[in-house]
Amino acid sequence: MSLFVTFEGPEGSGKSTQIERLSARLERAGVVYQLTREPGGTPLGTRIRQVVLLEAELEVSPLAEFLLYSASRAQLVQDVIRPALSMGQVVICDRYADSSAAYQGAGRGLDPRFVADVTWAATGGLRPHITVLLDLDPALGLRRAAARGQPDRLERADLAFHVRVRQGFLDIAAAEPERFVVLDAERTPDELEADIWVAIGSTLSAMGKLEGAAY
Ligand code: TYD
Repeated sequence: MSLFVTFEGPEGSGKSTQIERLSARLERAGVVYQLTREPGGTPLGTRIRQVVLLEAELEVSPLAEFLLYSASRAQLVQDVIRPALSMGQVVICDRYADSSAAYQGAGRGLDPRFVADVTWAATGGLRPHITVLLDLDPALGLRRAAARGQPDRLERADLAFHVRVRQGFLDIAAAEPERFVVLDAERTPDELEADIWVAIGSTLSAMGKLEGAAY
């Protein structure tokens, strides 16, 4: 049995730290997992990431931006996520389709139905079993992200955009409470790690993937 877990959240929400900690726990438990991210995760995705995030002078319209993320996603689903799931592995993805719904839909204002339709086409309807949403006040998140260095294209968008993105994530989570674990990202990394493990560890345990493991 496979498990597809995604992490979502606004800038500076601490996803990377929590993904690292979850990976360490999975390793200790001897669970075979595949870690990947969007945009990226394949040679094509890595090039798209470069274009869409780092080439500051390039004009990219909201529609083009969404289609670039979708192209990266289509390749990642075909080459990495589906093969791993079909081998019964756990897949952890740093951002996935909810990021497009929040950033390009709620944030940039693209029609949510269009975003959903293209996403369906790009992923063949593949949806995560569990999505961890690290929710954070965007003003705080942007300050955290700025402290990390040069802002990318999305980080340079104004605060109002990031407020819409945050609300977009919360609305998606409210519509699918059975899939989402929503956590307040202002809590300490240790507290967040523990809560994430309660959700994912219990699912793995119910799947029989943690039997006898020293985690
Ligand atoms: P990244 O450097 O991975 O940052 P983070 O640590 O915040 O995930 O940058 C990914 C950026 O791309 C982030 O600002 C969110 C944005 N994004 C979209 O706008 N739409 C999408 O579909 C995806 C996957 C990401």
